[in-house]
Amino acid sequence: MLEAKFIPKPYSLNLEKGSVSWQSPSNIALVKYWGKYGEQLPKNTSISFTLSNCHTNTKLSFEKVNASSKFQFEVFLDGRREISFEPKVLKFFERVQVYLPFLKDYKFRIETSNSFPHSSGIASSASGMSALALCLVNMEVQLQSGMDGQSLSEAEIQKASFLARLGSGSACRSLEGPLIVWGVHPEIEGSSNLFGTKFPFKIHPKFSNYRDCILLVDKGEKQVSSTVGHDLMHKHPFAEQRFEQAQSNLSKLIPILKNGDIPEFIKIVESEALSLHAMMLTSMPYFILMKPNTLEIINRIWEFRKKTNSLACFTLDAGANVHLLYPEWEAETVLQFIKLELADFCKNKEFIVDQVGFGATMN
Ligand code: DP6
Repeated sequence: MLEAKFIPKPYSLNLEKGSVSWQSPSNIALVKYWGKYGEQLPKNTSISFTLSNCHTNTKLSFEKVNASSKFQFEVFLDGRREISFEPKVLKFFERVQVYLPFLKDYKFRIETSNSFPHSSGIASSASGMSALALCLVNMEVQLQSGMDGQSLSEAEIQKASFLARLGSGSACRSLEGPLIVWGVHPEIEGSSNLFGTKFPFKIHPKFSNYRDCILLVDKGEKQVSSTVGHDLMHKHPFAEQRFEQAQSNLSKLIPILKNGDIPEFIKIVESEALSLHAMMLTSMPYFILMKPNTLEIINRIWEFRKKTNSLACFTLDAGANVHLLYPEWEAETVLQFIKLELADFCKNKEFIVDQVGFGATMN
């Protein structure tokens, strides 16, 4: 069992109380993860840009208690107790306890806040689970060595990514940047279904500081959660073709990311977004997460590209919001276009300008 390497040896030190804080960004997939098996293992490889401005800050405070049979923790969002987050954290603790055997010896206070508004419809599970996993690994480092965990080793980051995956699959791609692969791929050495790994090749400078403007089309709760959506891939008539398509799209993307061929990048990225949503349209039961304004924005992006030869393109996650990706040198013209044409299709004209980032940091 490969997972066994994440089970620690008995801890040598005692820790009565303390706290650790980490900031972790969100990420946007270029090749999408949609469909899983076993314990949070992906049916295909995915790759994402790590973001920068959209992030979660999490402070984990801990205090030793007499070993108990249940987990003791409370979750706070922006300073207020957030009971609705607790079942997800409980499930996470249950899944990871074999890898973090100290969990039941402590009472935890988890204080979290997002740089983006909670109601923005941006999923905080990737950044949130990644930040929490890093806090826990950081605490474990203190129990093992007494070091403060300021700079985690490669093995420690790998363990945090492994744990984050058990909280939310895409979270394992949020710890480092700028491009993270998750899931075994024959052309990516070291790639694994258990944790994210850095894209191992030199990335063309055209992709450095790549922009992602998140157009907030719909800010409400999703009607169908990612968990349900992933589940519907089990008896999906096109599942196998979709998993093969993702593998082959990543094979095509590898040389593109090396040679900077943005027109070819656009073809793969937009096709991946539409294929993801096509899986939703053809699930049983079927569902649609795009809104009329999602399509309106996509059409406007295509027209803008035709008219101006811009290299801006879109991608989607499991929701109605549109991520507009564009190279750094188009930042001004694309921002003008967003303000003039696209903002009208966003709820309260809201959008968030973000860019590719380099991963989580200790606070
Ligand atoms: C469409 O990581 O949210 O954003 O593992 O059930 O927590 P769980 O799912 P989640 O799924 C994300 C799916 C996606 C594509 C992607 O990020 O690759």
